[in-house]
Amino acid sequence: MKKTIAFFDAKPYDKIWFDQLVNDRYDIRYLESKCNSDTAALAKGCEAVCAFVNDDLSAATIERLYENGVRVLAMRSAGYSNVDFKAAYGKINVVRVPAYSPYAVAEHAMALLLTLNRKVHKAYNRTRDFNFSLSGLIGTDLHGKTAGVIGTGKIGQVFINICKGFGMRVLAYDPYPIPDASFEYVDLPTLLRESDVISLHCPLTEQTHHILDVNAFRQMKKEAFIINTSRGALIDSAALLAALNLKRIGGAGLDVYEEEADIFFEDYSGEIIQDDVLSLLTSRPNVIITSHQAFLTDEALRNIADVTLKNLDAYFAGEDLENEICYHCDSGKVAGGCRKTRKERCFQAPPIDLRSTDTDSFRN
Ligand code: NAI
Repeated sequence: MKKTIAFFDAKPYDKIWFDQLVNDRYDIRYLESKCNSDTAALAKGCEAVCAFVNDDLSAATIERLYENGVRVLAMRSAGYSNVDFKAAYGKINVVRVPAYSPYAVAEHAMALLLTLNRKVHKAYNRTRDFNFSLSGLIGTDLHGKTAGVIGTGKIGQVFINICKGFGMRVLAYDPYPIPDASFEYVDLPTLLRESDVISLHCPLTEQTHHILDVNAFRQMKKEAFIINTSRGALIDSAALLAALNLKRIGGAGLDVYEEEADIFFEDYSGEIIQDDVLSLLTSRPNVIITSHQAFLTDEALRNIADVTLKNLDAYFAGEDLENEICYHCDSGKVAGGCRKTRKERCFQAPPIDLRSTDTDSFRN
């Protein structure tokens, strides 16, 4: 029998490639709601859940999904800071798409930087109003400037190559440096002090939460541009706003925001946003905000659909789960690490107890 996937927070652009690649092997139940403890019941009768970055996959949600018979959570994202892995361990296997297009995200980071630096956002609005004045549009050459890259994984490395193409000097900070790198690793204070552009490409963890805080902003050059395409909570948003107000930094290009979960991906143009920090950041001429769209290229969407469906194929075929991640393999939080060697499963979830499940409501 065909398995059913509860696909939360579904948007028209998600459906394009999932519908093309699913080849009739799954029923996909597209749900507009975000996944949370209230909406988890919508997954009843589905064997799998597919979720994205702003779904709330807290312990309460995981428990409700488990009670409703879900045994696999397929994240259609690389980041997974919204999943409570401790709650999922032993109950729901979590798979993800580790890389779908580092180019998409790195190129968007550079797009934010170029827009901010050359004030393209202002010029665009001016010329639409037939205002061809150049006053206030002075930028700087990126050539010869220093880019500070925090996190030198897949996306960070692509961004570094782009910066080098612009003739920039690159400094990097990463607790796990890559050997024989073609750029210079420095400690974080040196990077903060010497960089003209600081771009965040590390995951959100306990160590990186508010990695850019009041203290960090104090160490930066007053012209420094901050680019964040990783996760909102890497930056203390209130401290960023204060640094901008005090002209301690030059500007910020943000594709992610600390409190984005209930705001980004939706149209609130007719409403009053109740987040004053976001409202004030948005109003600043030297801040560009995009709505977590760095991943949004055709190539990335295709890869996301392809890898997510293949992850589910492997799960339901009882095969090894190359792209699984669990509490024990997530950043070594637990001594001993994950039992998984390379490709196996992190654990076997208990079977669904059909006696305790309302089977009549399945597949309606
Ligand atoms: P990756 O896993 O390849 O690289 C992450 C790097 O961060 C690793 O080299 C790691 O050693 C480093 N890192 C870990 N802790 C660190 C710390 N305390 N300080 C500095 N560096 C640290 O991940 P990838 O694919 O490059 O993605 C990076 C981030 O980009 C993801 O975690 C995700 O949050 C974000 N992302 C955003 C998207 C968007 O649409 N805006 C789309 C995809 C990913």
